[in-house]
Amino acid sequence: MTTLVIGAGLIGSQVARILVERGEKPVLMDHAAQPQAIGQIVDLDKVTLIQGDVLRPLSIVDALRSHGITRIAHTAANPLLTLGAQKAPYSAINLNIMGTVNVLEAARVSGLKRVVVSSSSVLNHYLEGGEDGSHFGKEESFPRPTTFYAATKQAVESLGLNYAKWCGIEFAGLRYGAVFGPWSGAGGGGPSNLLREAMRNALAGREATIPPGVMEWVYSKDAARATVLALDAKDLGSGVFNITMGAITTPNEMAAAIGTVIPGAKVKFEAPAGTGVSLSNRDTHADLSRARRHLGWEPQFKLQDAVKDLAEWMRRHLA
Ligand SMILES: NC(=O)c1ccc[n+]([C@@H]2O[C@H](COP(=O)([O-])OP(=O)(O)OC[C@H]3O[C@@H](n4cnc5c(N)ncnc54)[C@H](O)[C@@H]3O)[C@@H](O)[C@H]2O)c1
Repeated sequence: MTTLVIGAGLIGSQVARILVERGEKPVLMDHAAQPQAIGQIVDLDKVTLIQGDVLRPLSIVDALRSHGITRIAHTAANPLLTLGAQKAPYSAINLNIMGTVNVLEAARVSGLKRVVVSSSSVLNHYLEGGEDGSHFGKEESFPRPTTFYAATKQAVESLGLNYAKWCGIEFAGLRYGAVFGPWSGAGGGGPSNLLREAMRNALAGREATIPPGVMEWVYSKDAARATVLALDAKDLGSGVFNITMGAITTPNEMAAAIGTVIPGAKVKFEAPAGTGVSLSNRDTHADLSRARRHLGWEPQFKLQDAVKDLAEWMRRHLA
């Protein structure tokens, strides 16, 4: 069994690490891999790192054939996620939607069974409408995504579920919360980067800035563990899973966690210019019961454990 992990960033590198720890040699595919950052997460000698672009379908088919791939975890997405897609909608739509369709098609023509795709909890947080309350005959039956990025994730889930229904592919879409965790390369979303920068500043004795709104976070190691469990699960049920800490974190709670792990840390609440769009407008948290039932997944890192683990990693790697 060989797993292709597409996208070797904040989450993909952790997926590869877990597979390596289980004795597998996964294939990591990226169009612009950052080997130094990846090598801080997973031993590069224990993975096969290849260049490939999800916008070039033949490069996916080539990877599947050349490496005897049996299943795929697809984590590639547009740079800076919500913020990036607001600035460059066309390329984000193309990459997120057509890139995922290319992965699903490559799986279909190659007879691969399982494809696990990164969705996002933006589909629980960036919504408006739905006034008609699920009444199928009315126009506003369901809430709609309010950002380009969320709209791409909604399309990805819907297309993946149709590949499952009509083409025999076992599809899972994982709605990760805002992800933070060990990573020294470029990538991730606005909140991932804001929090990492805040931690770096706090560790260096400088003032740390964290987003002023509530956030629904998940630690990258937990997001990756859910991804591996979805690759393995016997029964994917309805195929879409919330993968978050299962709690809303207020700015005060995040500041307290940072202050406990880094005593004396000074934290202020501020959204740097242009990042407001990546803050949630909802304060309800995700229901994790499907992930528990079908994947056997439970977040292992609550807020303070996650901040502590990240601080320890940063002290070791970014001193
Ligand atoms: N980081 C978050 O807060 C967060 C939250 C929810 C969902 N997600 C989703 O999880 C997934 C992984 O996110 P991440 O934080 O690890 O992102 P990341 O930016 O760290 O990693 C994505 C990787 O995909 C690669 N990539 C981009 N375009 C590509 C292409 N055309 N072909 C091949 N590779 C390409 C990038 O080079 C990058 O290494 C994404 O789908 C993202 O939408 C992330």
